Amino acid sequence: MQDIISLLGVGTAHDVCIVGICGMGGIGKTTVAKALYNKFHQSFEASSFLPDVGETMQNNGMVSLQESLLSDISKTSMTEVSHVDRGISVISNRLRCRRVFVVIDDVNQVEQLKALAIDRDSFVLGSRVLITTRDEHLLKQLPVDSIYQVQVMDEEESIKLFSLHAFKTYWPPNEEYLKLSRRVVDCCGGLPLAFKVLSSFLVQRSTKFWVSEIKKLQTIPPLEVQEKLKISFDGLNDDTERVIFLDISCFHIGKEMDLVKQILDSCDLFPDSGIEALIQRCLVTFNKKNKLMMHDLLRDMGRAIVGEKCRDSSGKWSRVWRSEDSVEVLRDESNQ
Ligand SMILES: Nc1ncnc2c1ncn2[C@@H]1O[C@H](COP(=O)(O)OP(=O)(O)OP(=O)(O)O)[C@@H](O)[C@H]1O
Ligand SMILES: [Mg+2]
Repeated sequence: MQDIISLLGVGTAHDVCIVGICGMGGIGKTTVAKALYNKFHQSFEASSFLPDVGETMQNNGMVSLQESLLSDISKTSMTEVSHVDRGISVISNRLRCRRVFVVIDDVNQVEQLKALAIDRDSFVLGSRVLITTRDEHLLKQLPVDSIYQVQVMDEEESIKLFSLHAFKTYWPPNEEYLKLSRRVVDCCGGLPLAFKVLSSFLVQRSTKFWVSEIKKLQTIPPLEVQEKLKISFDGLNDDTERVIFLDISCFHIGKEMDLVKQILDSCDLFPDSGIEALIQRCLVTFNKKNKLMMHDLLRDMGRAIVGEKCRDSSGKWSRVWRSEDSVEVLRDESNQ
């Protein structure tokens, strides 16, 4: 963490500083960016943390992202944007008025940064910009000052994080669980997301159960993170919990918890206990506004499971969440 704090040079350097954070999915880019934002944003005249930019653009469009940035960095409440080009010029003008700290999280196209006016000339001296992405190549196409590669956790850190989730203490409670924890951590390749999900799945299970799940984990190649996370999905208590997980991954991320519960309840899915079980397993979370959230790797895993099932069962879709697919499904149905 100290490395990236000095790269960012808050309080020490007086020019504009743009730092890229990159690394594979689930390694902790957003976590690092959030920690820096929480630590430093109050020392700036204005600040903005735009989470999941790639996903938000796909779901809500670029203008909505521009409006979020504008509303964070402006004094005025007038932040409506008529179209993307207009948005770029309004954002540039506002950025020129104040020393800002801006975090643009999970960018997957250079165009997203252009549309948010992330250009050195837009910023007042002393401003700081953090960009997180899985795609290092994307950062190389930009005038970033430095790139911080998030490293996988070493064994000691991994055991601590794993133990914290599994046993609520920084170290496993006895030698037997320590040995088993080392074996699980070994299969996770230093990836915090995998520790979190797998420890929540193994918590309060017998050592016999751990041994059998570790055997399964060891058969999965090191880089197949999604397959490893799937062990936790497969191990849910019943099909109802699995259906709820798949429904949330396809339709309900970012929706109000109460609304999702009403929808699931109308399908006889017992949402109170089901969602509680998913939260305990770290498969879903909820934010301060009580909206349901799911890590993007877990979301992709859910959608991949739905996709596989669809291919298996004579081409019938169990869930359709992309508008282009719904058009295809309706066309197929009308041709039958
Ligand atoms: N240093 C850490 N200490 C504790 N938990 C961590 C740490 N880094 C990451 N995590 C946990 O691991 C999970 C994945 O981290 P995060 O969402 O930051 O990954 P990411 O690199 O942004 O992934 P993606 O590319 O999919 O957006 C989070 O739930 C987070 O709580
Ligand atoms: Mg992220």
